[in-house]
Amino acid sequence: MWFSLPALLAGLALPGVHAAALSRSDIQTVFSGAQWSSAGTIVSFPGSDSFTNATERWSVFHQPTYAASVSPATEADVAKAVTLATSHRIPFLATGGRHGYTTTLGELHNGLAIDLGQLNTVNIDKSTGVMTIGGAVRFSDIYNPVFEAGYEIQTGTCSCPGMVGVTLGGGVGPWAGVHGLDIDALLSLRVVTANGTVIDVSDNSNPDLFWAMRGAGANFGVVTSATYQLQPLVNDGQIWVAEAILTPDLFSNYFKLVETYDGGNLKPEMAIIQAGVYDDAAGFVIAVTWSYLGPEDKANEFFKPLLDLNPIVLGIQNYQWNNVIQSVSGGSDAQRCIDGAINSIYTIDAKNFSAATYETAYAELGAFYEAHPEARGSTIQISIFPNQAALAVPDDRTAYPWRETKAYIDLIFTWTGTNQSLEKTTDALGRQWRSTFAATSGYPGLAAYVNSAHGDESLESRYGANKLPRLAALKKTWDPNNVFRFNNKLPTKYP
Ligand SMILES: Cc1cc2nc3c(=O)[nH]c(=O)nc-3n(C[C@H](O)[C@H](O)[C@H](O)COP(=O)(O)OP(=O)(O)OC[C@H]3O[C@@H](n4cnc5c(N)ncnc54)[C@H](O)[C@@H]3O)c2cc1C
Ligand SMILES: *[C@@H]1O[C@H](CO)[C@@H](O)[C@H](O)[C@H]1NC(C)=O
Ligand SMILES: *[C@@H]1O[C@H](CO)[C@@H](O)[C@H](O)[C@H]1NC(C)=O
Ligand SMILES: *[C@@H]1O[C@H](CO)[C@@H](O)[C@H](O)[C@H]1NC(C)=O
Ligand SMILES: *[C@@H]1O[C@H](CO)[C@@H](O)[C@H](O)[C@H]1NC(C)=O
Repeated sequence: MWFSLPALLAGLALPGVHAAALSRSDIQTVFSGAQWSSAGTIVSFPGSDSFTNATERWSVFHQPTYAASVSPATEADVAKAVTLATSHRIPFLATGGRHGYTTTLGELHNGLAIDLGQLNTVNIDKSTGVMTIGGAVRFSDIYNPVFEAGYEIQTGTCSCPGMVGVTLGGGVGPWAGVHGLDIDALLSLRVVTANGTVIDVSDNSNPDLFWAMRGAGANFGVVTSATYQLQPLVNDGQIWVAEAILTPDLFSNYFKLVETYDGGNLKPEMAIIQAGVYDDAAGFVIAVTWSYLGPEDKANEFFKPLLDLNPIVLGIQNYQWNNVIQSVSGGSDAQRCIDGAINSIYTIDAKNFSAATYETAYAELGAFYEAHPEARGSTIQISIFPNQAALAVPDDRTAYPWRETKAYIDLIFTWTGTNQSLEKTTDALGRQWRSTFAATSGYPGLAAYVNSAHGDESLESRYGANKLPRLAALKKTWDPNNVFRFNNKLPTKYP
């Protein structure tokens, strides 16, 4: 039987010696014939509903393809799936929320999906505020339990991504001045490593790996569970939000206003998000969401200059922490979370704000909407998140390289038609806009948050030149054959 093939064989494999790739049916035999520790572990194959359930992704652009999927019910079966895959040299990807969109994922062909979806528990110790979640828990799974226990934590801007997947790259989001990054709340991980062993990873146990997995985590193992320190509720969990629509005549003054928050003017409680939108009735507009994690009078002070521009105000109201992401913008989160669309994304991290750059880029977005009606769901989204709490953590504590970032700029291209129909056009535009934004970002070159990266950036842009020597050395120790290579792969030697 295939399952009896000892894992030892994997250890004997010499890097650089390639066995012929297994056929689709050979791969299926490996997993259908395996003895799992739990009867709840599900193996499925393309064409079945359970396979679709286990593999469908938020973006289908350059998505991985699989011959089989395993949905382990236990940590032991995660380890078993990893060992089976590596010993047969079957390429694999472990998935949590399946919201990753980096195009390097598309380098996985005819492999194994290790769907962690059954590892979905959320446990909170109310007295200490320590939370442990399974490897595939989504943000939507934690809002209520965390709030009801009297706490909050960084959750980013959407309810649907996997919290562990987000954390492994850093974990950024609004009110980061108060909450910081998800990696900074992380206490420990349970990790299945490349050789199939299960280990604890924290400041006290394998601290080098803990350093690497906070920023470059997708390269080092499969996380079966993650433990975080929650923060007590801030402002009783009440967040004030002003939402408005800007017509093109206001863009210039609006961006000049945004620029005034550069320097020391962006307070920890603030967040400013703007996105270009093509509306069938109104045409090209910018939707803006300003929010404040604090009392109403302070929030109104913050909102005043925005309201003085006389935009179309959609509302000013307060939301409770556990509902805010799913309720703001008329509940647009549900729409942003729909699976199965083409999404080709480019990203730029910035320390500085530049009204002139924003104005130019949004004007070009308007022209793009005119030229490509089939791509009017595309957007440029600029998320301005303060960084005081992130900067309070010394840079060398984690592998995450971009703690100085205050603006996350995402160029999101989506279209109807085939994957290929607008790929060339949007690739040229995406790279051009990316260079333009990078030039005024305040970073010397392109800085790209790895979880939002397109996948074509230099290693230095994704991981930071000062982090790469140590990351490469750890990659060599923990994953010498680079089995975790489909998400912006690290080298085992640098430079
Ligand atoms: C709609 C949307 C909103 C987003 N908003 C934010 C945001 O506000 N803040 C932010 O920081 N990012 C945000 N992101 C980006 C997000 O961080 C990445 O897409 C992230 O990789 C998603 O993780 P996932 O588990 O959902 O995806 P998956 O595609 O399942 O995984 C992505 C990568 O992480 C790895 N991975 C996932 N889970 C595990 C695990 N348990 N163990 C080991 N490896 C794992 C996978 O192997 C893969 O390489 C957003 C993305 C989308 C699509
Ligand atoms: C698909 O997933 C849903 C929800 O996760 C579940 O209720 C359903 O039973 C699954 N279907 C199959 C065929 O696995
Ligand atoms: C895009 O390609 C993926 C496979 O790579 C496929 O699953 C998806 O259906 C394609 N989408 C379109 C619209 O062609
Ligand atoms: C970024 O801002 C700093 C401080 O305001 C300034 O000195 C620097 O010139 C700016 N860099 C760019 C590229 O605009
Ligand atoms: C797995 O890899 C780690 C890191 O190289 C090593 O310490 C450990 O001994 C290995 N375990 C086995 C069973 O090979």
